Amino acid sequence: MTQKYALAILGGTGNEGPGLALRWAHAGYKVIIGSRKADKAQRVAGEVNAKLGQDLVTGMANEDAAQACDIAVLTIPYAAQNALLDALKPLLQGKILVNVNVALKPPKVARVYIPEAGSSTEQAQALLGPEVRVVAAFQNVGAHALGDLDHPVECDVLICGDDKAAKAIAIEMAEAIGTRGIDAGPLQNAVAVESLTSILIGINIRYKVPGSGIRITGLPPA
Ligand SMILES: NC(=O)c1ccc[n+]([C@@H]2O[C@H](COP(=O)([O-])OP(=O)(O)OC[C@H]3O[C@@H](n4cnc5c(N)ncnc54)[C@H](OP(=O)(O)O)[C@@H]3O)[C@@H](O)[C@H]2O)c1
Repeated sequence: MTQKYALAILGGTGNEGPGLALRWAHAGYKVIIGSRKADKAQRVAGEVNAKLGQDLVTGMANEDAAQACDIAVLTIPYAAQNALLDALKPLLQGKILVNVNVALKPPKVARVYIPEAGSSTEQAQALLGPEVRVVAAFQNVGAHALGDLDHPVECDVLICGDDKAAKAIAIEMAEAIGTRGIDAGPLQNAVAVESLTSILIGINIRYKVPGSGIRITGLPPA
């Protein structure tokens, strides 16, 4: 059995965070939902626990969650990313940050936006410094797919990063939610993965579907 890490989902109270919390807690990870407000985090953790039928997920202020975790997962709007990571930088040193954030430029979120840093993920790595191992993952997994344990998550997860061990952990986290985690190369490639999210948002709008996703063909069976 692989080691199950303590995960803190920073900003885990929104669309994407609770579904990830649900799936990871169900798979045996210790999960903390983080928020700017501890009471909001506790309320959302309670909602996730109600779905699980067990009190597995806890809620804390982002700072306490970042302190308590082995691995932090970032799920906040891109525009708020720098300020939160700047505040949490000392607490994240030596840890892994799984970046689910996507560089989007509202209101045209169905158009690819490439920030100066290359991607949200490279921006996070540059801000946090080399002692935090940042990986890009789950950026193409829509919130809609995550919230119901009776329905499998029908997509692959592309994972980019410069640290092989951190990527292997993110691949395990993808497998834990029932998806296939695929090593998609170095952190520099996160720009392509994040860009795909804008394409998927546009597909959802044009085809009137709640959550299109991606699959890679041509690989040996998982
Ligand atoms: N939604 C999806 O389907 C999806 C799929 C893949 C990737 N993503 C990416 O994942 C990230 C989160 O998406 P989401 O839809 O979950 O976002 P969201 O619901 O709009 O926001 C998530 C949480 O971010 C926190 N937040 C909002 N403004 C903040 C600020 N100024 N400073 C600090 N925290 C703030 C809030 O938590 P508190 O108020 O509790 O602090 C909020 O509940 C985005 O970068 C998005 O592009 C989303």
